[in-house]
Amino acid sequence: MDKILVEGGPRLEGEVRISGAKNAALPIMAATLLAPGVHNLKNAPSLVDVRTMGKLLGVLGADVDHHDHSLTIDTKNCNEHEAPYELVKQMRASICVLGPLLARHGRARVSLPGGCAWGPRPVDFHVKAMKDLGADVKLEHGYVVAECRRLTGATIQFDIPSVGATENAMAAASLAKGRSVIENAAREPEIGALASFLRAMGARITGDGTDAIVIEGVDELFAADFEIIPDRIEAGTFMVAAAITGGDVLITGIRKEHCAAVIMKLKEMGAEITEEGADLRVKGPMWGRAVNVTTAPYPGFPTDMQAQFMALMTIADGTSVITDTIYADRFAHVPELNRLGADVGTDRNVAIVSGVKKLSGAKVMATDLRASAALILTGLIAEGETEVSRVYHIDRGYESIEKKLAGLGAKIRRVKG
Ligand code: UD1
Repeated sequence: MDKILVEGGPRLEGEVRISGAKNAALPIMAATLLAPGVHNLKNAPSLVDVRTMGKLLGVLGADVDHHDHSLTIDTKNCNEHEAPYELVKQMRASICVLGPLLARHGRARVSLPGGCAWGPRPVDFHVKAMKDLGADVKLEHGYVVAECRRLTGATIQFDIPSVGATENAMAAASLAKGRSVIENAAREPEIGALASFLRAMGARITGDGTDAIVIEGVDELFAADFEIIPDRIEAGTFMVAAAITGGDVLITGIRKEHCAAVIMKLKEMGAEITEEGADLRVKGPMWGRAVNVTTAPYPGFPTDMQAQFMALMTIADGTSVITDTIYADRFAHVPELNRLGADVGTDRNVAIVSGVKKLSGAKVMATDLRASAALILTGLIAEGETEVSRVYHIDRGYESIEKKLAGLGAKIRRVKG
């Protein structure tokens, strides 16, 4: 298994280009199942999760070709309706195929994703949405088994906004008979991206970006071309990399408005952030001020940036508090950060980070995608060498992170294992 070795010290300087968003690409890829034909997606990131979704679409009968950030998906021969455990267990976002399969074939058999590194993460909202649209849904032998004649428009109300369930509901309702309203819908930019792709396919959707999405079902959708939006979490991670090293980095290829909560907190910590046309220059404070962060659905502070901010807080001046309101148990990175000399304690979904003056490199283990990023970020400033193992997690969601960081002057390399 590969490892990443980071030598702490260098200030990061230069320019980095942000890749397409994993969390936009995955539901959009799944939505291609709604219409037979050849779909072309540009700015598709080269990531393990994108390849896993490609394999899943392949099992469902699609012909998938990914090169140079262009993804061509031919769904003409998609006649299968089963997403097998072997693929779904590798990536929870596989559940995104449930709505499209059901809407197109009138049946879907999708393995339950199971647990993940940070708690149970159920799929009950996804199931509820399909039932609201008139499907008969059962759980059988570890699979969600859904059937319908044709889905019927309905009001779907979520207890809390769920990104994935909103996406599944939106995709399925696009081919339902009549009007659907998704209430308490998620408002993440990735929802807007999926809505735009569905509209390009002929869907009639309004209200995305608000908490009430209205979908007038159509009888047929058509293959479409689309450009994947930039990854706001990768962008935020590089902003933290600039700040934590006291660096000066120009972040390009981003949508600044998608990063507002992260930019605000970085400024609060003392980072200097300026707009240069469409790009963003981040100059770090290195030893920033302690801040408090509470994760919340968009436009709040993203839970997917919590671990990376914790890295920054480990060397801040004072005590910072992180409250994760999205996940009760997303702190697997804490013991690993403490191995590097950080002083972090947790109490349920709250982490208390007391800033220290020095961190020292050590062998640490990546526990999940964003936790891996946090360990690499901390390695950038820890004295000596930090060896991050289990980096397959990072390959799921960051395209060539070590190459991009090395391009900014970090002493980082991958050791093939
Ligand atoms: C998506 C993102 C993930 C991010 C998360 C929260 C993708 C591919 N993944 O995950 O990176 O961390 O949003 O921003 O886009 N919930 C239920 N029942 C359900 C579904 C969700 O109780 O059926 C709960 C979850 O446990 C969580 C909350 O709802 O507490 C929000 O989760 P959700 O927005 O659904 O996350 P995902 O779509 O899985």
